[in-house]
Amino acid sequence: MNETIKFYLAPMEGLTGYVYRNAFHRHYGGADRYFTPFIANKKLSRRELDDILPEHNAGMNVIPQILTNRAEHFICIARELSRYGYAVVNLNLGCPSGTVTARNRGAGFLRLPEELDRFLDNIFTACPLRISVKTRIGVESAGEWEALLKIYEKYPVEELIIHPRLLKDYYQNKPDLNAFAAAVKTGRHSLCYNGDICTSEDFARIRREFPETVKIMIGRGVLKNPALIRQLRETADTPDPSPAGMPPAPSSSHATSAPDRLRQLRAFHDDLLEHYLGVLSGDRNTLFKMKELWCYLGNGFTAPEKYRKAIRKAEELRQYTIAVSALFRAEKIITEESAGYRTNPL
Ligand SMILES: Cc1cc2nc3c(=O)[nH]c(=O)nc-3n(C[C@H](O)[C@H](O)[C@H](O)COP(=O)(O)O)c2cc1C
Repeated sequence: MNETIKFYLAPMEGLTGYVYRNAFHRHYGGADRYFTPFIANKKLSRRELDDILPEHNAGMNVIPQILTNRAEHFICIARELSRYGYAVVNLNLGCPSGTVTARNRGAGFLRLPEELDRFLDNIFTACPLRISVKTRIGVESAGEWEALLKIYEKYPVEELIIHPRLLKDYYQNKPDLNAFAAAVKTGRHSLCYNGDICTSEDFARIRREFPETVKIMIGRGVLKNPALIRQLRETADTPDPSPAGMPPAPSSSHATSAPDRLRQLRAFHDDLLEHYLGVLSGDRNTLFKMKELWCYLGNGFTAPEKYRKAIRKAEELRQYTIAVSALFRAEKIITEESAGYRTNPL
């Protein structure tokens, strides 16, 4: 393999903030780059500020993400971020949430290509920081992608992160690999692929189809299995992506025994819980945070349903920790070798 693969942790509002990033970095060796969940306030909120403070992100390569469709707001936030030592910011053109897109922000901005073009012109002229872009491929139809790509081509985008879905797809359907291929073929930018990677097979497929793409961003796959990036790194270290039609090269992550993985996950979970308790006001906020995480983490266990229900229903931390402990005692982590892996949703 000619260039080392770089793995990025996707920005995920409410989930991959600095507490998660730090615990993930400590327990699983981390990602090459972390993107903060979006910052939307011209004057950073307490939560947004906490997330980007350098002392909360020591030892990690963090790129703050901005969500706006107003150039002056973008520049104002970027200037503020430069005061904290950031040299690159990321523009969110992918968020499909109704409250965001109704105001033509996130993926909603893609429905106004001329305004988007003007916005990019303004920010690339006036922003003191380098700018990367995270985008979907359109709103309603894949036919929109070519024109959007032409717009991105005009600007010195630091890197173009593509989640090849339409706004209307939300998280349904499959990523459109033809759209990503079009960017590989025509684009001058450094590309990063994002979307639906949760096994070494998914990763091997992207490597086979796009051997020149060396940047991979992962979100839900890591939330479900925090060891994923480490496992994929081991796969990536094998000499070549498997030829088409062949199964992916076996990962040496098999060397980590299932009980070890379970212990590691438990330690990661407990660390996360402790740190949320330390920074969030009140047990209830921590409880909500942890419950949200289990929407993903729960999918990584053999038969989690009754425990997940107990976790969902927990009204106090004590009930929550009892349910989590029972799950860790009774169930195993699903591995790629075990039958359940593919059938469990992201
Ligand atoms: C709960 C949730 C929150 C998200 N928050 C953000 C966000 O703040 N900024 C962003 O660019 N994308 C956000 N995303 C999209 C992810 O970064 C990523 O593009 C998407 O999940 C596809 O990658 P995956 O299949 O690896 O998860 C979010 C996704 C989810 C499910």
